[in-house]
Amino acid sequence: MSATVAMTVPFVRAIADLREHVRVWRAAGERVALVPTMGALHAGHLSLVAEARRRAERAIVSIFVNPTQFGPAEDFANYPRSLDADLERLESVGADLCYAPSVETMYPQGFATTLHLEGPAKADLEDRFRPTHFSGVATVVAKLLNQAQADIAVFGEKDYQQLLVVRRLARDLDMKTQIIAAPTLREDDGLAMASRNVYLSLEERRAAPALYKALVDCARKIVAGEPIGDVMGKAREALATLGFSVDYLEARHGETLAHIARRQDGPVRLLVAARLGKTRLIDNLAV
Ligand code: PAF
Repeated sequence: MSATVAMTVPFVRAIADLREHVRVWRAAGERVALVPTMGALHAGHLSLVAEARRRAERAIVSIFVNPTQFGPAEDFANYPRSLDADLERLESVGADLCYAPSVETMYPQGFATTLHLEGPAKADLEDRFRPTHFSGVATVVAKLLNQAQADIAVFGEKDYQQLLVVRRLARDLDMKTQIIAAPTLREDDGLAMASRNVYLSLEERRAAPALYKALVDCARKIVAGEPIGDVMGKAREALATLGFSVDYLEARHGETLAHIARRQDGPVRLLVAARLGKTRLIDNLAV
């Protein structure tokens, strides 16, 4: 009887090893892409890797559950971690390297620097409910971009405010890495793929697609000419009736996240965050 050995992508934990891979690829004239993740990889992440592979000869995926982007009452300790399965998944989609640094590598003794953000990080959306989140995200993303020195980095539109924060950061700090946005991958019933979906009970999982349906319904009404304020207000009430505790459901300018009252002042982006039981779901849609 022959045992099957799972194939996994090579992985490194040290910055010097990451840079050595990048140096060798560059010397061979290859373009390098980075896909930053916190692991617990699902098909949505794998689609980011596929996008990276379309645009560059080499794709690195970083896996780091970043403590500084979790609030004190959030799920850092319980955040799903599955490195072995992640490495197999990465092999199956042709990633070239996984970079999985330790907390000590990313935040060594004496670490004392965080980024102070304005602009899209202060839009009164995620930041209203997670006030320290984006400075943690920006600090770790700046470090990852700096460590990898990749030509491009791919981020999902699923975390739309994060995407705009990272774009701003890369511009403002003159990062050489180009930021690429990749579309949200959805389950067949419309639910946006997310690592935290595993927290949903069966009943909550059945209810969850209503969030995306609400966005689609709002977009259709706005396109049909209904006033944005009315549309969003009614959708908030409808979601509450379905058992969602809505943090926000708003129409914003798609590039600046400024409030928007009329479609012609767009592009309009609809953004939602709502809790079902203990699970917080976010989603967004272009109108
Ligand atoms: O989107 C995520 O998974 C994280 O916020 C990121 C960008 C990897 C930073 O930790």
